[in-house]
Amino acid sequence: MHVASTTQIAVVLVGLPARGKTYIGRKVQRYLLWLGICCRVFNVGDYRREAVTDYTGHEFFDSNNKQAEKIRNECSIHALNDMLGWFSRIHSGVAIYDATNSTIKRRKMIYETCQAHNVDVMFVESWCDDEDMILKNIIEVKKSSPDYTDYDDFKKVEHDFQLRIEHYKEVYQEVGSVSLSDPHDSYNEADVTYVRKINVGAQMVINKIKSYMQSRIVYFLMNIHIVPRSILFSRHGESLYNQLGLLGGDSSLSPNGAKYARALPFLVSKIMGDHKLTVWTSTLNRTIETASYLPYKKIQFKALDEINAGLCDGLTYSQVKQKFPEEYVTRNQNKFEYRYRGGESYRDVVLRLEPIIMELERQQNIMIVSHQAVLRCIYAYFLEINSEELPYIKIPLHTVMKLTWTAYGCEAQMYSLDIAAVDTHIKRSASTVKPPPNAASPSDLTLNLRISGSKPELESFDKFIPELIKDDKILTKHVEVFKFA
Ligand code: ATP
Ligand code: F6P
Repeated sequence: MHVASTTQIAVVLVGLPARGKTYIGRKVQRYLLWLGICCRVFNVGDYRREAVTDYTGHEFFDSNNKQAEKIRNECSIHALNDMLGWFSRIHSGVAIYDATNSTIKRRKMIYETCQAHNVDVMFVESWCDDEDMILKNIIEVKKSSPDYTDYDDFKKVEHDFQLRIEHYKEVYQEVGSVSLSDPHDSYNEADVTYVRKINVGAQMVINKIKSYMQSRIVYFLMNIHIVPRSILFSRHGESLYNQLGLLGGDSSLSPNGAKYARALPFLVSKIMGDHKLTVWTSTLNRTIETASYLPYKKIQFKALDEINAGLCDGLTYSQVKQKFPEEYVTRNQNKFEYRYRGGESYRDVVLRLEPIIMELERQQNIMIVSHQAVLRCIYAYFLEINSEELPYIKIPLHTVMKLTWTAYGCEAQMYSLDIAAVDTHIKRSASTVKPPPNAASPSDLTLNLRISGSKPELESFDKFIPELIKDDKILTKHVEVFKFA
C-alpha cells in the first residue's frame, strides 16, 4: 500500500546541458544523506546510455529526430517509474530527478504523475548565459563523459556538445515564464514550487515553497557556490589528555602538541602559499593553542567542540569498559547512534554541525582546527562516507588535510608533520566489520592511495604509508610528510 505523505519530495532539475544540474543534484544528495535523510538520484542520462549504448553524436538530441525523441521520452518515463517505485518503498525522502526537463510538456507530465502518487514536486532550474563558464564546464566534465569515450580529439567533443546545447535551446522553456498554449489546461507553473538559480546564484527566484524540507533545500541552494577555494582541517596538536589516553576534557597541549602548534604556520604556508585563510577553532584550549601561531583571523565555534562523552569524560577507554561494560558493548555495536550517558552521539554531533557545513559552503578559504569526532563528521560530508563508517575514519594527529574539488565531489590530500604523537584511533571491533561490498562506493576511491612525486623540499615517507593503509579507512589520495626540525 502506498503511504500518503507530504515528506516525499521529487527535486526535478531543469536546465540546458552543462548548467551544473548533476553537480547541484549530487550536492543536495550529499547534504541530505549526511543529515540522515533518505535521498537518491535518478539520472535520465544513465537510462539513455543504457538504452543506446553507442552514442553517435549531437543529432540524437535534435527534436526533429523522432526516433531518438521516442527513446528519450521512454527513458524519462522509465526513470520516473523507478523513482516512484523507490518512493513506494520508503516512508519519506527526497529523490533528485536529473534531466534537462526543458519543455513545459515534459514538466507537466512529471508533475502530474508525481501528484497522482502523492509526491511533491520542486523544480530546480539552473539557468546560465555566461558562455565562458559553459565552455569551462564542458572542458571540466564533458570530456570525461561516457558519451565521448571514443572521441580522441577534445575539440570534437566540445563542438559536438555545443551543437547538443543548440538542439535543446530550440525547444527550451524557462520554468514559470510561459504557459501552455491550451487555455483549458490547468497546469500553470506560476502555481508550482520552483527555484531558479540564475548565473550560479547571482539571482535566485523562489516560488511557492510549501514545506520545511523544501525551505532547507532552498537555503542550501542559496549557499553553494563554485568559486575555487581550499578547505583545510587539522586536529589539535597532541594534548596532555591524549598522552594519558583520556577522553574529552579541556586539557592543554603536550610538549609534542606545542611543537606541532609552532610548526603549523610553516606547514600551512607550504600548502596555501600566499593565499589568506580564516581559521575556525572550537572553544576548547587544545584547538585554540594549536591555532595560536597561525597569522590569520580566528573565530571560535562552540559547535566545533569535541563530542561530549558525558559520564565517560575524563576516563580512558579501558576504564569505560570496566565501569560501564554494557555501554561499551552498545557503543561498539552501533557507534554512530550510541549516545554517551549525559553526552552526545555521533548523530547528535552531525546535527549540531549542520550550520557549520552551511557556512563552509558559503565561505572561501577556511582552516578548521577541531577534534577527532567532529572532523570525522565534517569529513564524511565532503567525502560522502556513510554513517556506519563515519565513526571509524582515521584522522591522525599532526596532519593537515586539504580538500580539493573534483567535477562532482572532493578528494582529500594529507600533509603530515614529522612530530611524534600518540594514536587515538580505536579500530572497529572484528565482529562489527562488514565484508566489503562488491560495488565500489565513492569512499573506495580514497583507498586508492597515491604518493606524490618527491619534490625537492619534501620527503615522502614510505614507511608511513603501510601504517596508514592497514587501518579500516584512509581518506587520502596523496600523502606528503614534512620534516620539521
Ligand atoms: P548535462 O545536462 O549534460 O548532464 P549538467 O547541467 O548536469 O549537464 P554538470 O555535468 O553538472 O552539468 O556540469 C558540471 C559543471 O557545472 C561543473 O564544472 C560545475 O562547476 C558547474 N556548475 C555548478 N553549478 C553551476 C551553476 N549553478 N551554473 C553553471 N555551472 C555550474
Ligand atoms: O581520544 C581523543 C578524542 O578526541 C576524545 O576526546 C573523544 O571522546 C574521542 O577522541 C572521539 O573518538 P571515538 O569516537 O573513536 O571514541
